[in-house]
Amino acid sequence: MKKFLIIANWKLNGSYNFIDKNLNIIKKINNSLNYCQLSISPPYVYLNYINNLIKNTSISLTAQNVDIHLKGSFTGEISVNMLKDIGVKYVIIGHSERRIYHNEDIDLISKKFVLVKKYGLIPILCIGETAEQKKNKLTEKICINQINSILKISNIKIFNNTIIAYEPIWAIGSGKIADINEVKKIILFIKKYIFSLNKEIIKNIYFQYGGSVNFFNINHFFTKKYINGFLIGKVSLTIKDFVLLIEKIEKSLYLLNRS
Ligand code: 13P
Repeated sequence: MKKFLIIANWKLNGSYNFIDKNLNIIKKINNSLNYCQLSISPPYVYLNYINNLIKNTSISLTAQNVDIHLKGSFTGEISVNMLKDIGVKYVIIGHSERRIYHNEDIDLISKKFVLVKKYGLIPILCIGETAEQKKNKLTEKICINQINSILKISNIKIFNNTIIAYEPIWAIGSGKIADINEVKKIILFIKKYIFSLNKEIIKNIYFQYGGSVNFFNINHFFTKKYINGFLIGKVSLTIKDFVLLIEKIEKSLYLLNRS
């Protein structure tokens, strides 16, 4: 059984104080989980510190970004091998905040995805549409374009054991969550597309959803097993809310698996 992967994407938030206050609480709840696995995605500078604190637990580390170069004169950048060195398991690629605020385009994101996979970490490819694109019914096109751009420089097998996170841009930080039917539709569409290219690897791809996930709005995600995880931004920064959310997801998965 694939465990449901909950990633706390702290974005540009956190401090030693925040970690010291909250990590034990996260470790404690992690011990009680059967259906979920937790991963923490802090800013780069805290990865190593957290890695030491989560040793001997099943909590994993996720990086928020990576450079396309392995070494050299690239001031301010971090390579995939450095992330590997400090115990990172997953790397978020193409988050819309990087696309928007750091001008990361579809080609750069494709290069990062391929590099991360080739060097043995698990890329999480974030894809999703803006409100305008949604209005113009471009969601499927936007998502497939990103996948095709990766296929241009690699082949379909690159997606084996990777994660695709559907994160509608209009849902991130907005308090508006996507309807499960829309999430289901886009995930099925992507799955079908990948399946048409390779029948084997689709079962080794995780599908996550991200965008304003909170305690009050997730019920509809657990009527069927459409997704394998959440990327959580804002709620992961308030430990009380994060714990309540994890407990609710765990309970929902328990009920879903019994039915
Ligand atoms: P919010 O949960 O704050 O909407 O952020 C989602 C996100 O961007 C996860 O990567």
